[in-house]
Amino acid sequence: MHQDVTTRYMGLPLRSPILVGACPLTLKPEMAREVAIAGAGAAVMPSLMEEQVSRWFARRKGDASNRCPNPEAELCKSENVYNGGVESCLKTIPRLKRQCGIPIIASLNGGHDGDWLSIAGDLEAAGVDAIELIINANTYDPDCTAEQAERPLLDAVRRVTQMVSIPVAVKLLPFYSTLPNLAARLREAGAKGIVLFGREPIWEISDGDLVPALHWHLSSPGLLQTTLSGLIRVRGSDPSLSIAASGGIATTLDVVHAVVGGADVTMVTSELYRSGPDVIAHLVEGLSGYLHRNGFNSYCDLIASRQTQATDQDRQAKMETMLAPPETEEAGEAVDGNSPHGDRWGHLTTPTP
Ligand SMILES: Cc1cc2nc3c(=O)[nH]c(=O)nc-3n(C[C@H](O)[C@H](O)[C@H](O)COP(=O)(O)O)c2cc1C
Repeated sequence: MHQDVTTRYMGLPLRSPILVGACPLTLKPEMAREVAIAGAGAAVMPSLMEEQVSRWFARRKGDASNRCPNPEAELCKSENVYNGGVESCLKTIPRLKRQCGIPIIASLNGGHDGDWLSIAGDLEAAGVDAIELIINANTYDPDCTAEQAERPLLDAVRRVTQMVSIPVAVKLLPFYSTLPNLAARLREAGAKGIVLFGREPIWEISDGDLVPALHWHLSSPGLLQTTLSGLIRVRGSDPSLSIAASGGIATTLDVVHAVVGGADVTMVTSELYRSGPDVIAHLVEGLSGYLHRNGFNSYCDLIASRQTQATDQDRQAKMETMLAPPETEEAGEAVDGNSPHGDRWGHLTTPTP
C-alpha cells in the first residue's frame, strides 16, 4: 500500500517531501538520475560562490583585472572543481532537468548584496525552478550590529525576488537570536521559503598545536535537534511559510519528526554521501509506510494534523525540563535523593529552606 506523499514547496508541486540538499553530488548525471528515480522531490545544486560569479561577470565584460589573482589561483581552481564553474553550471541545468524530471533548485552563496546576484536571472533563463540564497555577513566585527549584519541578506532577497519570477528561498545558519522576526522580514522582502539550517565549516582546535582551524565534516544525526529548535520557533510564528528542514535527516523518523516540528519538506545531504542514492528510496518508502501504519491517507494529512502552537510558554517549559533530572539512557542507576548532596544530579529530595 503506497500512501500519497506528494506535496508542495514554495508552490512547486513535488512527488515527495524528500529533497536532496545542496551539494556537488546533484551535478553528477548518474547520481541525479538515481535520486530522481528513487523518488526525490527536488534537488539543490551546489552553491555558486559570490567571488566566482563576480569574476565570471568581469571576464564576460573583458575586464582582465578581475582574473583570479595569483595567491587565489588555487582557490579559483578548487571552486571550479567543486561545482564545475558558472558556465558549466548554466549549461548543465537543461540537461539535469531533462534527465531527472524533478524541480532543480540553484544555490547562491555570498557575503554581500550586489550586482553579482544578477546571475539569478541567468539561472532562471537556464531553467532552474527556484533559487536558494545564502548570504552571511562577516560577524567578527565588534562594531557590526545584528541589524547591520542582516541588512545585506534582506537587500539581496529584495534584489533577487524583483529580478526573477521563480520562487526564492533563504538558507539560514542556526545562530540568529530573533529567528521568527527574521523569517517574517524575509517573507516581507519576497522570500517564499526558508531552509533551516545551512552549515558552515566548523572551528576545531587540534590537540597538537592548539591552533583553531576550520574543518568540514559530514553532519551527524544529532544535528536534528538544532534543526528542530529552529523549525518549532519559526512554524510557531508563521503557519503558512514554506519551510525546509536541513541538518541531521537520516531516517524515516527524522523525517517525521522534522515535519511534525514544522517542516514542509526535508533535505538530505550527509546521509546521501554515507549511504548512496538508496537512502532516498528508503526515506520515501519509509514515510509512506509510516503514514499507512498511523492512519494517514496522505502526507498532506500528516501536515494538517500537526500542532504548531505558539511558543510563549517556552520559558516555563524550559524551566520545568531543566529542574527535572536529566533523561538518561543508562538503566538501573541507583539514585539516593536523601544524601546531603542530593541525587547524582545534585537534586535534593528535601529542598533546603
Ligand atoms: C559534501 C557537502 C557539500 C555541501 N555543499 C553545499 C553547498 O554547495 N551549498 C550549501 O548551501 N550547502 C552545502 N552543504 C550543506 C548541506 O546542503 C546541508 O545544509 C547540511 O550538510 C546539513 O544537512 P545534512 O545533515 O543532511 O548534511 C554541503 C554539505 C556537504 C556534506
